[in-house]
Amino acid sequence: MANETGGISRRALLGSGGLAALGTALVGCAPVDRVAPDPVAEEPRPVSPTGEHQAGIARPAAAQPHMLLGVYDLDGDSAAVLAALGDSILSLTSGEHPVLAGIAPGDLTVTVGVGPRLVQQARAGGVGTEPLPAYPREEIDERHRGGDLVIQVCASDPLVPPLALAGVIDGVTALSERWRQRGARGPSVAVRGGHSAPRNVLGFVDGIAAPVSEEELAQSVWIGDGPLASASILVVRRMEIDLAAFRRLSIDAQERVVGRERASSAPLSGGSIGDDVDLQAKSPEGAYVIPVDAHVRRAHPRPAGVPLMLRRSYSMDEPLGLLFVSYQAELRTFTQTMERMSESDALLDFTRTTATGAFLALPGFDAQHPLGSTIFGRA
Ligand code: HEM
Repeated sequence: MANETGGISRRALLGSGGLAALGTALVGCAPVDRVAPDPVAEEPRPVSPTGEHQAGIARPAAAQPHMLLGVYDLDGDSAAVLAALGDSILSLTSGEHPVLAGIAPGDLTVTVGVGPRLVQQARAGGVGTEPLPAYPREEIDERHRGGDLVIQVCASDPLVPPLALAGVIDGVTALSERWRQRGARGPSVAVRGGHSAPRNVLGFVDGIAAPVSEEELAQSVWIGDGPLASASILVVRRMEIDLAAFRRLSIDAQERVVGRERASSAPLSGGSIGDDVDLQAKSPEGAYVIPVDAHVRRAHPRPAGVPLMLRRSYSMDEPLGLLFVSYQAELRTFTQTMERMSESDALLDFTRTTATGAFLALPGFDAQHPLGSTIFGRA
């Protein structure tokens, strides 16, 4: 139950013995850790594009520093288009694609998801056919809501995502672009059990609470069986942040908006970065230590009654904000969380969302099993 840093694992806290473990943890480490953790150095290594799951979701474990994400409409034969995209991904990641001539693909990953309209055509009803509902603080042009296809391209070399995206879509006349967005992540800090997370534009570490082990990923990220087995639901939201307004808050006030300490990322309820937040902890005056509208309280999976989502968000410079990306086995993991945040989340007050979509991130593929073939058949 204890993790490498001597803390209590999140799974243990969320599991049946969790409350007892939480009590012990709080008695053991009541003071809030205030030391900023050092970044962990990671050497980019090639990531296999093939396997049970697509790359770019849980592999590499620490998301690459640069991302370009594009959303498209598809007017044509879905099976043929997806198979062609898969072939391009294989040649890009092996360094054979002419668009990368002279440039090493490094840790390039390309992840493809299909929108509700296409999933509905292939299998009337069921997982992947539901679009996202509308939420407060959205200002979304219809072209920036939904779409038939999402392509998430990530790499350590900032040159690689735009070239690789061009290599994937060039010549595929069935695709027309709706929108694209660039994002970046700084160095990650160690969280627990090999899991690490970067800071976002607010200066807070983002992506701490996450499914990490194979068991946690199987429980909360991968769809378990049927033709969609090994797929996942991808949610993307382009969230602009009023950083000037957030920065006008004192650091203490910023920390109450988030629910964690800014420098160390420890929960305001005590402990250190790898510890779960204690939503019950109260001050001697009887007030909740994690404020009632703090983001970590409103987004916490336990009161929302859902498993942990895998967040893989990137900071944006233009527009300034967060390209929120999450992967989960069920759309309700996102929607039930978002509903609770929409009721009262102090962080949401600093945001407006200008693009959004939910997609079925396809199961893994290889040269013998074309991308999308379990759902759309072979081209
Ligand atoms: C501008 C938008 C957002 C920013 C800047 C932001 C930032 C953060 C930060 C700093 C944390 C605390 C550290 C951590 O556990 O990662 C956090 C936690 C979390 N956020 Fe967000 N977030 C944003 C939007 C969202 C959205 C749209 C969702 C999903 C609907 C979400 C879901 C979560 C979850 C599930 C947690 C973990 C809560 C816990 O279990 O402790 N966030 N976020």
